[in-house]
Amino acid sequence: MYGLARSLLFRLDAERAHDLGLKSLDLAWRSGLNPLLATVPAPLPVDAFGLNFKNPVGMAAGLDKNGDYIDALAALGFGAIEIGTTTPRPQAGNPKPRMFRLREHDAVINRLGFNNDGVDVLVRNVEASKLKRVGGDTVLGINIGKNKDTPNEQAAQDYLHCFGRVYPLADYVTVNVSSPNTAGLRELQEENALKALLEAVFNAREKLATRHGRRVPVLVKIAPDLSDDDIDAAARVLGDLSVDGVIAGNTTVDRLSIEGHPLAGEAGGLSGRPLYGRATSVLRRMRSRLPASVPLVGVGGILSGADAVGKMTAGAALVQFYTGMIYRGPGLIGECVEALRQRREGASG
Ligand SMILES: Cc1cc2nc3c(=O)[nH]c(=O)nc-3n(C[C@H](O)[C@H](O)[C@H](O)COP(=O)(O)O)c2cc1C
Repeated sequence: MYGLARSLLFRLDAERAHDLGLKSLDLAWRSGLNPLLATVPAPLPVDAFGLNFKNPVGMAAGLDKNGDYIDALAALGFGAIEIGTTTPRPQAGNPKPRMFRLREHDAVINRLGFNNDGVDVLVRNVEASKLKRVGGDTVLGINIGKNKDTPNEQAAQDYLHCFGRVYPLADYVTVNVSSPNTAGLRELQEENALKALLEAVFNAREKLATRHGRRVPVLVKIAPDLSDDDIDAAARVLGDLSVDGVIAGNTTVDRLSIEGHPLAGEAGGLSGRPLYGRATSVLRRMRSRLPASVPLVGVGGILSGADAVGKMTAGAALVQFYTGMIYRGPGLIGECVEALRQRREGASG
């Protein structure tokens, strides 16, 4: 089924295909046709950050930036969906074209630049979702960032604004300091900057937890382009501050793996298959540097069940993908869950 949809969507510009794909998915869900798109996998429960996931396979941030499609995406069988990145104020993002498919590599380059409708719209969408109104068994993560025109010295205010707005609605919140398309954002991963930002977020959480009677886990999403020393420094801060989890990681600005491709010169973050090796080594190093109590989410280049297993072997407790949805469609969710089930049964058998 997805093969046919894919051959039609791939005739369009990548961003138009993305919008049309999501609108069609939503229409299918509203018409009750979503079982045609994906077979919902049998449960494979996992606990992480104090949350219960029905399976370890999640949708990565950026696919549904405003939470417009929460219920349609949840119906596909993901254990978790992460919406956002959201920012305090709406922003248009970079000029188009800003998303490119590299089919020969099962890859995408994007420089969207946190195009989104702002956190107030996202909050309204979450409130209106069936997942929140009626309840459901899909974990909802909300990924927060800063506006493009907010200088880094004031970045904490943007994160705190979004954090306070989404706190009552999120199962977990991701602090995104790793997108390559907002100038200077990744500098927030530097040891002192990261410490200052996270201390501000954790202080805010103390008050919010008292007010709402619930302590929402906070995850940090890191870039795959960190050097070994940067990873070690970030791990020290994350471990010292007892972050609830780490997502490794975002898209890469490195082009070595696609050298010679006509689109290699396009600015932005590269995702998909060429990212797998690097993202998995960063994950492995983070695992070796962080206390065992901090679960990791492995993201970057998952295009098959075997790739998901590889992330777990490198130390992930959960996995996510985005580009895999473009190249493989919703069937990849079940494929990953089944591969992880076999791994678990192999380990216990
Ligand atoms: C078009 C596009 C937009 C993205 N937007 C975001 C975003 O807003 N926030 C974020 O944290 N990550 C974003 N990402 C990164 C993905 O969440 C993921 O970390 C990355 O693509 C690597 O995983 P993949 O190889 O499975 O795609 C985006 C990725 C793509 C391809």
